[in-house]
Amino acid sequence: MEMIKFKIDGIELEVPKGTTVLEAARSVGIKIPSLCYLKDVNKSSSCRVCVVEVGPRLIASCTLAAENGMDIKTNTAKVREARRTVVELLLSNHKRECTTCVRSENCELQALAKDLNIRDIRFEGEKTTCPIDDSSTSVVRDQEKCVLCGRCISTCGNVQSVHAIGFANRGFSTVVAPAYHKPLSDTVCINCGQCIMACPVGALHEKENIKDVWNAIADPDKYVVVQTAPAVRVALGEEFGMPVGSRVTGKMVSALRKLGFDKVFDTDFAADLTIMEEGTELLKRLESGENLPLMTSCCPGWVKFVEHFYPDMLDNLSTCKSPHQMEGALIKSYFAKKMDIDPAKITVVSIMPCVAKKFENQREELSSENLQDVDIVLTTRELAQMIKEAGIDFANLSDEEFDNPLGESTGAAVIFGATGGVAEAALRTVFEITAGKELEAIDYEVVRGTEGIKEATIELPNGKSINAAIAHGLANARKLLDMVKSGEKKIDFIEVMACPGGCVTGGGQPIIDAKTREVMDVKIERAKAIYDEDKSLPIRKSHKNPYIKQIYEEFLGEPNGHLSHELLHTHYQKRNRF
Ligand code: FES
Repeated sequence: MEMIKFKIDGIELEVPKGTTVLEAARSVGIKIPSLCYLKDVNKSSSCRVCVVEVGPRLIASCTLAAENGMDIKTNTAKVREARRTVVELLLSNHKRECTTCVRSENCELQALAKDLNIRDIRFEGEKTTCPIDDSSTSVVRDQEKCVLCGRCISTCGNVQSVHAIGFANRGFSTVVAPAYHKPLSDTVCINCGQCIMACPVGALHEKENIKDVWNAIADPDKYVVVQTAPAVRVALGEEFGMPVGSRVTGKMVSALRKLGFDKVFDTDFAADLTIMEEGTELLKRLESGENLPLMTSCCPGWVKFVEHFYPDMLDNLSTCKSPHQMEGALIKSYFAKKMDIDPAKITVVSIMPCVAKKFENQREELSSENLQDVDIVLTTRELAQMIKEAGIDFANLSDEEFDNPLGESTGAAVIFGATGGVAEAALRTVFEITAGKELEAIDYEVVRGTEGIKEATIELPNGKSINAAIAHGLANARKLLDMVKSGEKKIDFIEVMACPGGCVTGGGQPIIDAKTREVMDVKIERAKAIYDEDKSLPIRKSHKNPYIKQIYEEFLGEPNGHLSHELLHTHYQKRNRF
């Protein structure tokens, strides 16, 4: 490997060719501020916050490759003044409602202004005026806070291959917008919210539903049931200052009870149920050879992606509703009957790591007898906000257990939160059912990890085999589907999660700033916590969950049976490609 020798602030450095000055400086602890740069996602060199002095010139360090003999200065009066001017200019055209902004104290522009000691703005001039686009069920866009860094555009285009937004207009009139300035709800946006995770400021955020939940809890005629997705429990603690990857399952349950929910259930129960339903569907399709590969349907962003871009593959999607929708349907049928509660009086709230679920729960087909399966979806961030509003001392809560019968789950369910988890949970059950005996080795390492596309051939005890493929991040999913369609790959089972890393880094999870992303792979840390949770549980296979056995005996009959189809399965629709 060719090495480059140069100096930064008098320090002699030797780095591999191609290393940028920003990367080299940060590797030796020299702080250079940045804004538009987002590791592995965006290198647009558009904000100029990261300028350094090279001879007589000021150059953006995030795209400047180190060269032999360079003598870089990162902390001169000229550099500091240039950075301050850049940030002041950004602030001069920024809706500065910092005290009430959803990103207050978690805003990269605010942090820059503080670090650069900006106390007043020397430039007052014309300001961008643009109405807020809150047409989407999931993502709200406020152009008056946008800094035009392009991080959202790169994420939507390069990471997700959706291209719902881009730069529009020229010069001062430049904005980020969907094509033809359509409202976001009329575009191919798949509601994943990865643009929110990339945004350094409050220009993008989730559609908030906190008030709806407070109102439901306060209504004496409502019976309010909450359920939580697997990935929430390994991220919620971060909102209360805990390290990335802290497991807070018991504290989360305790906080939900204190908030006033009547029952606290676990979406993991329905994840176990998904394995029963989807596993049966897989075995049937393998038998008949129809609609293979079977594609998972737990992720609403992925489902909408198929509806827009691969409508010819809609029959390949599993007909299973996503786990929280299944849980909602059971709360308003099985549970309501058991407790003798009018289902119309039940409000189901889902706490999800995801903003696409805010679109999903409003789909007409996810309802029965005019009642939506799930009434309100909150993100992990919104739950944290409610806990803060209620003045609950989260860190010092004691651990509590979920309520039953819809709160008991296995290790197989909790791993649904990480890429590869649904495939692994399905394999644990399918393998054991075909073997007809108890199996000890149930850790399928081959489907774990953060590689964009993973493949594995699993030899079943009955002599047959399953070719499985797993993708996360929709650009990877697109690559995989194109290989399947062209006949290059012969796959039986495909698991896709729209967000890179899976739900652990979903669009509703605590936001990780650009600098932290450079030094830590958050998806690995949170996934580790998920697998630890799996290991800590006494039962780790979905079909061994005693309450799953009970619900089939008492209510559903058999997997893929008549009632299951009515309550737990759904259908999909072709959508516009533009
Ligand atoms: Fe380097 Fe924006 S130009 S961070």
